[in-house]
Amino acid sequence: MAKSSSQLVYLCNACGADFPKWYGQCPACHEWGTLSEFTVSGRKSKSSGNRKTATAPAARLSDHRAPRRYPTRIGEVDRVLGGGLLSGALVLIGGNPGIGKSTLAIQILHACGVPALYISAEESPDQVAMRAKRLKITAESLWLSGEAEIDAIEDAIRKEKPELVVIDSIQTVYNPDLDSLPGSVGQIRDCAQRLLQLAKSISVTILIIGHVTKEGVIAGPRMLEHMVDTVLYLEGDERHNYRILRAVKNRFGATHEVGVFQMDATGLTEVTNPSELFLQERLASVPGSAIYPSLEGTRPILVEVQALVTVARFGTPQRNVNGLDYRRLAMLLAVLEKRMNLTMGNRDVFVNLVGGLRVDDPAIDLAVLAAVASSARDIALPERLIFIGEVGLAGEVRSVSQLDKRLREALSLGFESAIIPFRSQLKANLKGLKLIPVRSVRDVMNTLFPG
Ligand SMILES: Nc1ncnc2c1ncn2[C@@H]1O[C@H](COP(=O)(O)OP(=O)(O)O)[C@@H](O)[C@H]1O
Ligand SMILES: [Mg+2]
Repeated sequence: MAKSSSQLVYLCNACGADFPKWYGQCPACHEWGTLSEFTVSGRKSKSSGNRKTATAPAARLSDHRAPRRYPTRIGEVDRVLGGGLLSGALVLIGGNPGIGKSTLAIQILHACGVPALYISAEESPDQVAMRAKRLKITAESLWLSGEAEIDAIEDAIRKEKPELVVIDSIQTVYNPDLDSLPGSVGQIRDCAQRLLQLAKSISVTILIIGHVTKEGVIAGPRMLEHMVDTVLYLEGDERHNYRILRAVKNRFGATHEVGVFQMDATGLTEVTNPSELFLQERLASVPGSAIYPSLEGTRPILVEVQALVTVARFGTPQRNVNGLDYRRLAMLLAVLEKRMNLTMGNRDVFVNLVGGLRVDDPAIDLAVLAAVASSARDIALPERLIFIGEVGLAGEVRSVSQLDKRLREALSLGFESAIIPFRSQLKANLKGLKLIPVRSVRDVMNTLFPG
């Protein structure tokens, strides 16, 4: 290959934009230090945009047929997708290695029951078949392929004409005409672009699996998010068998809905009542435990916030947090220290959300504060009490959204009282639940630890 036919471009690892020169800060997404050099081969390939695509004539809006939506028939997946998969949609399933993405994908193919093609560029078809056997999947309409080259994949899809395709994973699919390795930003972008065109042109639904590594070492999925229609993340605490499927982007439905599953040897099983699951191992009357009614999408889920506060023995006190924002915890500890004279500077603080759920809603503040204060004072909180409210820097308790829904869930699970923001407007009939409105953190502490 003549050197002169190659072209140097600089690709952003974060957003995937390319530039003819290097910048310290990406001009497109403003991230620093994300541009890396990338050689685009000048060799003509049928893939690099030279393929003649027929231009579709403009059509009347009223003549346009809506794409077909078909349910996956896995209730938790349909909830997250907003009713099922759409023909012609490109869906990204992201998650840490080993979390269960391949398992979920093959279960979806099986449950949908439409002609489907599973392209495993990562594992051999034998391995995929073994997994399918373990999951008791014997679908007649399911085809396997071990192809990893994007041209061959495209040809296979055009030839087999499946309605649903899984690409496992985008990091292992490659275009040999590019000079970079599979998994590089350039390869991922090129292959994803090809899959996008294919999905739209022949109305096939394509599920792309993408690995996320800690700190986004692989640029793939983050950049892919901009290209696809729907982004699902499969999350969970690897030490537990709960898995949470979350839509972070959905062009055809609501986001922030979650699906909850349990993972075992027979695959992912739906959990229709997650609150019970998350609370089942809770020990009563142990200091440092508070219950928070979270709202994931439209769904209330009760979770346990655990805190452990101990005297720091070495140097800088530790702040260790799981499932919550670290800075938010730091702020809450500062509020406790300043407004309640509870010294935190010489204590190690560990906070954990049980079950691997992650909550970014500040409505959890009060539960975190209560758990921390309970552990610091070594006094258990009432077992059938829940906490909800956002805490401000002045120690004020601020109102939260959809309180009715959250309280109703707590009531249905046998909770007896709730500490809620003073300025809450409730419409629901919550007979049987004692409401304790509070204006400030001080009110909460006086209620919990009188005297
Ligand atoms: N033989 C087995 N029996 C039970 N569980 C298994 C078996 N093999 C794999 N698993 C489970 O499946 C998980 C891997 O799921 P997989 O769908 O391959 O994840 P991913 O595709 O996200 O890397 C493992 O973490 C393990 O918990
Ligand atoms: Mg896999």
